[in-house]
Amino acid sequence: MEWERIDVEKKVKDFFNFYVNEFVFLYLQDRYSKRLINNLFRRSVYVRFDKTIEGCKPYEGRTALDVGCGPGLYCVELARRGIEKVVGIDFAPKMIEFAQKMASQLKVDGKIEYIAADFLTYDFAEQFDYTFAMGFIEYCSYPSEYLKKMISLTKRKVFLSFPKKGGILAWQRKLRYKFKCPLFLYSKEEIENLVKSVTDLPFTIEKISRDYFVTIFVQKID
Ligand SMILES: C[S@@+](CC[C@H](N)C(=O)[O-])C[C@H]1O[C@@H](n2cnc3c(N)ncnc32)[C@H](O)[C@@H]1O
Repeated sequence: MEWERIDVEKKVKDFFNFYVNEFVFLYLQDRYSKRLINNLFRRSVYVRFDKTIEGCKPYEGRTALDVGCGPGLYCVELARRGIEKVVGIDFAPKMIEFAQKMASQLKVDGKIEYIAADFLTYDFAEQFDYTFAMGFIEYCSYPSEYLKKMISLTKRKVFLSFPKKGGILAWQRKLRYKFKCPLFLYSKEEIENLVKSVTDLPFTIEKISRDYFVTIFVQKID
């Protein structure tokens, strides 16, 4: 199925606006579920979560930007661990509503700023030590524009997940999304070409179950 650019953005926004509860439920289900498909699907979600949270160390005095923050689970965890400030941006207002409620219930809202807007058009007034986008790039029809902007907003490291092309998990996921929302999957070579097309900065690509975890080392400061 082919999607036009405007159509992509609208479909993704509408989809995530109505998907909040289902999305959060996915995280809350048993992390160590014995069901094979669930386990394989979720492993990536948990591994990329842990790698991102660990990757933002040390937390004191540092700031982070969560692109496509969804219900704000990463923002809350970073705030709980003592990051100075974390900004979460998402263009689905229902996701931001949920995230704000959760942060205030957990009493970490003082450290988090949520923005309901499109990442590409929003004008940020600051740079961040870390920028990350988990489960995000697969919904972008022009990934290089997003990547460029993330790098320009970052002082130390950018973290991204990319869903793997090929295999039974990719096929099943593609099928699930077929009529709901556009989804772009990647080979390792496509990720390499994409990153190299926007920057000369060093980067790593790690395989984690159904995803690749990419770190771009911006390191403008120590
Ligand atoms: C699969 S969710 C991931 C949420 C979160 N990063 C996580 O892993 O828990 C992707 C989110 O990206 C948001 N999104 C997609 N394109 C966006 C854009 N251009 N600007 C802001 N948010 C966007 C969607 O609304 C959705 O909430």
